[in-house]
Amino acid sequence: MKIIISKTKDFVKERLMNEKSGHDYWHTMRVYNNAIDIAKEEQKENKLDMMAVELGSLLHDIADHKFGYDDEDRKEIIGKFLIKLDVDSQTIDNVIHIANNISFKNKDKKNTINTLEGKIVQDADRLDAIGAIGIARTFTFGGFYKRDMYNPIDEDNNEHTIAHFYEKLLLLKDRMNTKTGKQKALKRHEYMKEFLDQFYDEWEGKR
Ligand code: ADP
Ligand code: NI
Repeated sequence: MKIIISKTKDFVKERLMNEKSGHDYWHTMRVYNNAIDIAKEEQKENKLDMMAVELGSLLHDIADHKFGYDDEDRKEIIGKFLIKLDVDSQTIDNVIHIANNISFKNKDKKNTINTLEGKIVQDADRLDAIGAIGIARTFTFGGFYKRDMYNPIDEDNNEHTIAHFYEKLLLLKDRMNTKTGKQKALKRHEYMKEFLDQFYDEWEGKR
């Protein structure tokens, strides 16, 4: 298992090190650590495939749809890589399922993740979108796309980064799949609310 995981880390590092929109190698490593943490708790009550959790979290952003790849591309890239490492086919299918169904896309989309391992990795990915790291990633993304950090003039204008908190980040705590994920999400959620309160007060010179 150790060799497979370290080769997968190298593969991810090579492919995502210079990614600049918030899905870089370090995002992957944080999701990996979150996922193991959640899985260790879940494992006390349910049987699970730890290899699928580890590989699924490491490979979840490989060939992302944002960069023009589709489900078939991911199946091919991930499948090819894991077959070479002799990973069993059930685990490979689970990892491909994870990569193809993890994304939030939009708030009206139904969640199609249907394995426990997938639910864990999805929670781990969502945790990295909220809290202090989530705030930092969101402003990094906004800067990358040259968006305003905030623009209060027009209520319907959501072309600024603060709007993303309402479109996505503040909704995530109610969409967590696992008990451990939910607990962690609540803490990170409170931290974001505090940040927003402070942000608005500072904007008006009130603090
Ligand atoms: P996922 O890959 O989890 O489906 P995205 O790729 O849409 O989600 O977003 C990943 C991260 O990029 C978000 O958690 C957020 O930090 C940032 N991000 C995405 N869209 C926006 C946006 N419109 N404004 C600011 N940040 C964004
Ligand atoms: Ni991700």
